[in-house]
Amino acid sequence: MPIPRRSWAEPFKIKVVEPVRLTAPGQRLAAIREAGYNTFLLRSEDVYIDLLTDSGTSAMSDRQWAGMMLGDEAYAGSRNFYRLEAAVQRLYGYRYLIPTHQGRGAEHIISRILIKPGDVIAGNMYFTTTRLHQELAGGRFEDVVIPEAHDPASEHPFKGNVDLEKLEALIARHGAARMPYVSIAATVNMAGGQPISLENLRAVRKLTARHGIRVILDATRVAENAYFIQQREAGQQGRSIAEIVKETCSLTDGCTMSAKKDALANIGGFLALNDETVFEEARNLVVVYEGLHTYGGMAGRDMEAVAIGLEESVEDSHIRARVGQVLYLGEKLRAWGIPIVLPIGGHGVFLDARAFLPHLPQEQYPAQALAAALYLDSGVRAMERGTVSAGRNQDTGEENRPKLELVRLAIPRRVYTQAHMDVVAESVFCVHEERQRVPGLKMVYEPRYLRFFQARFEPLA
Ligand code: F0G
Repeated sequence: MPIPRRSWAEPFKIKVVEPVRLTAPGQRLAAIREAGYNTFLLRSEDVYIDLLTDSGTSAMSDRQWAGMMLGDEAYAGSRNFYRLEAAVQRLYGYRYLIPTHQGRGAEHIISRILIKPGDVIAGNMYFTTTRLHQELAGGRFEDVVIPEAHDPASEHPFKGNVDLEKLEALIARHGAARMPYVSIAATVNMAGGQPISLENLRAVRKLTARHGIRVILDATRVAENAYFIQQREAGQQGRSIAEIVKETCSLTDGCTMSAKKDALANIGGFLALNDETVFEEARNLVVVYEGLHTYGGMAGRDMEAVAIGLEESVEDSHIRARVGQVLYLGEKLRAWGIPIVLPIGGHGVFLDARAFLPHLPQEQYPAQALAAALYLDSGVRAMERGTVSAGRNQDTGEENRPKLELVRLAIPRRVYTQAHMDVVAESVFCVHEERQRVPGLKMVYEPRYLRFFQARFEPLA
């Protein structure tokens, strides 16, 4: 008898385990009340399966842990800095490296250098910290992602693509002198981990080059983006992830990077650049905000872990299993008719909270409510990516009402098993069965910046 299909498995075995525990329903209720119905404010001890984020939550390899022992904790000129610099040059192809404590440190520095008050920064959908740093530098963010990105049901293979006509119209309206750079994310987190194609990025490069506008890449999940290119884009099937990553970077002038995601480290980040003048300014500013330009807020051992993680992140077998696990969870939910963002993204499965909880208007924060309900059901922690995350309009102070009202089940890399994914899927199924009982929320405390991290809520019913 022929076997119907051949499975793949993770390209690693497990050497160290960390116990997790499921608390009782009454304890979960007490914990979520204490946390103001905000999963960011839960204690991780009270969480069973933690899908809050894929950021800094990866399991490091034995090579990375061995590398940690080779940390050279010199204040200046640590050998691990040079290892990291060489890894970025080899794998991403940029000339200059500025280490930072994490991605937002790099966003801060590049925004301060390139943005003047009144400038307009176009990008393929906003990311929370990226946009805030652009705004704090006096800029205004304009979304130029294709419209399909705002439609959870659209199965466009590259929902992270830029709408080139929209970008061209923006340049015509504001003039290239007011547009210091175009901000390109690969993948687009807020759209559901959706990729941008090489073809589209090449076209963005061509268009912006005509106007002398830079392209700055958010390379946080560039290896996952490369996987989708390899799987979906015409002519890319024979290429390695490493080749595609390098070409992606080559179409841009620099990148900001959170090493806490693709790069498989628990902390770290960097700014990488090709322009020597911008680099020199960044090397000076980093000293003010992060640390000396050969550590930028990272310990030597962390730079070593990032250097090794970067190498591992572009291995084809790694990325196939990583995204494969996300697809496994997503396919399961999809087969059960649970509304999720399609196509399934690279770093997580995103529940469509508007379709999931149609009885809740957006003013009652359906995604926040759904994340709380999921935690109450099973101790699974997810994250709101909807109205709370979108914040308020810079000029009017009104709440932004994004089309996407999502709950993200972000999957840490190399951390959970297929059985954990089954438990998560079954819990989502049960909450869906009982969805009429999920109450809306009202916000009772709202911090000024990035409110989703610390806001507090109370149930309405
Ligand atoms: N860019 C993207 C696309 C991100 O997803 C993140 C972080 C950052 C930049 C900022 O990097 O956290 O190292 O300062 N995203 C995390 C998340 C927080 O959960 O998606 P950072």
